[in-house]
Amino acid sequence: MLNALKPQPADKILTLMKLYRSDTRTDKIDLGVGVYKNAAGETPVMRAVKAAEKKWWQEEKTKSYVGLAGDPAFSDAMIALVLGDKVSQETVAAVATPGGTGAFRQALELVKLANPSTKIWISSPTWPNHPSIINYVGINIAEYRYFNNDTRAIDFEGMIEDLGNIRSGDVVLLHACCHNPTGANLTQAQWSEVITLMQQNGAIPLIDLAYQGFGDGLEEDAAGLRMVASEMPETLIGASCSKNFGIYRERTGILMAVLQDKSLRTTTQTNLEFLNRQNYSFPPDHGARLVSLIMNDDTLRADWKAELENVRLGMLKLREQLARELRQRSGSDRFDFLAEHRGMFSRLGATPEQVESLRRDYGIYMVGDSRLNIAGLNSKTVPILAEAVIKAGI
Ligand code: LMR
Repeated sequence: MLNALKPQPADKILTLMKLYRSDTRTDKIDLGVGVYKNAAGETPVMRAVKAAEKKWWQEEKTKSYVGLAGDPAFSDAMIALVLGDKVSQETVAAVATPGGTGAFRQALELVKLANPSTKIWISSPTWPNHPSIINYVGINIAEYRYFNNDTRAIDFEGMIEDLGNIRSGDVVLLHACCHNPTGANLTQAQWSEVITLMQQNGAIPLIDLAYQGFGDGLEEDAAGLRMVASEMPETLIGASCSKNFGIYRERTGILMAVLQDKSLRTTTQTNLEFLNRQNYSFPPDHGARLVSLIMNDDTLRADWKAELENVRLGMLKLREQLARELRQRSGSDRFDFLAEHRGMFSRLGATPEQVESLRRDYGIYMVGDSRLNIAGLNSKTVPILAEAVIKAGI
């Protein structure tokens, strides 16, 4: 049977991660996979996470199953963190999932169950695993323009024009903040316009929230999403704790369905739990437990927020330094967008050949579309990157 299998295309981001690991150059720089790194190049366990682990190690009495939706304390904490007081908890159905990718996958499963002939609109570009999973699950897919490679800014006119073609019941995938791979985000006015359009054409928003707290702040990064959730009749949200809690390998995420019509909540909740049961039964608990312990303890929560804010400000500083170094070296403002974008990623605007040259000649690794992870830099490597960018003719 298994001889019928064909080799699968390798994931580009993860292939790059492997290539980087096998590079023996000691001065190599990893700007590939979206993992936060401090100035020493480490991805540390956050202080509050360590403290919560210690606490939980002492308190935990059993490893028995929790529940198909995960621990309610985790859902409550995440609903509060993501939605603030914009939406009443009674309107939200939610299940814990293995990471944000798990939430996205389960959202697609739910969409397919409810409306198998729907179409999902994704931004061009988007995280490559989005279309990959949509195709794998077998849902129709279409693209809307989002980013203009020449101006390195949002092509909002193109976006609105494309979203104008949406039919009632289609799903629109939106990045809540820190757009991956471009770092270019919608303004509040643009969110409003998108909401009006989605209301007019009966679209269902599906929002991927992977970087809350990495852009403009915890509240600011959720502001657009909260507008959508409070104004649209139905909103699906997949949120990840990988980045903002730094618990990547614990696979901690949540899928929420916000329903203005409260009478839909129970059925939606049972469907979400059914889908968990079909796919992996109980979601992982450890990371989710750490999140709820942190969020329900004033001291731990304050410390987590402070550390996260430090991470965010550090990335902003690196963005500004890189834009400055490139302005000096290029004698132009064409890289100023790097200081304006938010989150871990920006697209440099290099050709695949130039990206390859950076890797081959300078040991600088970034994704083939020239997406770079700002958090992979430090104040010493910024000038090295800037120098290489100019030498590579970007
Ligand atoms: C990324 O885009 O690099 C991250 O979301 C990690 C991943 O799984 O691809």
